[in-house]
Amino acid sequence: MTEQLAWGTTYLAVRPDHFRVDYQINPFMDVSQQPDPALAREQWGGLVDTIERLGGSVQVIDQRIDAPDMVYAMNLGLGVERRDGSRHVVLSHMRYPERRMETGSARDYFAARGWTSSYVGQAGVGAHFEAGDAFAFRGDLVVGYGPRTEELGLKHLAMELDARVRGLRITHPGMYHLDLAFCPLDGTRALVCPEAFDNASAAAVLDLVPDPIVLTEEEALTTFAANSIVLPSPTGISTVVMPGCPDRVRAELVAAGFEVVVLDLSEFHKGGGSIRCLTNPVDVRLGRDLVHVPGGEVLLP
Ligand code: ARG
Repeated sequence: MTEQLAWGTTYLAVRPDHFRVDYQINPFMDVSQQPDPALAREQWGGLVDTIERLGGSVQVIDQRIDAPDMVYAMNLGLGVERRDGSRHVVLSHMRYPERRMETGSARDYFAARGWTSSYVGQAGVGAHFEAGDAFAFRGDLVVGYGPRTEELGLKHLAMELDARVRGLRITHPGMYHLDLAFCPLDGTRALVCPEAFDNASAAAVLDLVPDPIVLTEEEALTTFAANSIVLPSPTGISTVVMPGCPDRVRAELVAAGFEVVVLDLSEFHKGGGSIRCLTNPVDVRLGRDLVHVPGGEVLLP
């Protein structure tokens, strides 16, 4: 196994006290298919317990009653630790007004804990950015754009973080966030569904990942396998916590030295998200997980 991810042990999550499907902003959502609230709480609790059992920690935020999608905490913002140890969050600027009120709560939450914050756009003005589109991998910030995040947002992110941003253009309506099609696993591996992207970006993502574990479109859409998280461990064996895992993918993960844990998150699939969407890693470090590039840089396929 190559070097484990250095990030992925500290997460934010939103307790699903008001999780509903009130509107449709992705192809999975159907207001006639409501989640079972008790089952959703049980599944979410099981995820939190699993993260803690694997040595991770979870900070829990209360859900706003008027924000049924806030449970998908990944989209609250991109948190980073600066090189001087201070913390900063680039808050999301949601594509759909239905979710924009979440940002105010996120800002207050982070501010109360001493984080600084910034925006790439807000309240419908400026570029959209949703943090489920942005993940550190091999020193770069890989950012999906198209359905949610806008291309202009990449430039703002690069400048704000002094980082190299690699954009990937998402064209698949069902993989509307990068985290539905791409999951960093370690220093060289990632789960990737090339069908999420246009041809140039599909080629670019396969170039970017030395040892990709490729998911078919059907696997990505029906199992949410890319919407997984990776818990590194002092033993050197990382665990991939997944909402579903086709046998072939499991065999590839095990051969690469990973442990695999599969959890049922069925209720959250009704809103179009799963494990990664429910958990926001806030231990990504500038200068360690993202290479310092003064002024930033954006690379597009
Ligand atoms: N209903 C939510 C939306 O459409 C789901 C968000 C899923 N989150 C994610 N990181 N992919 O915005």
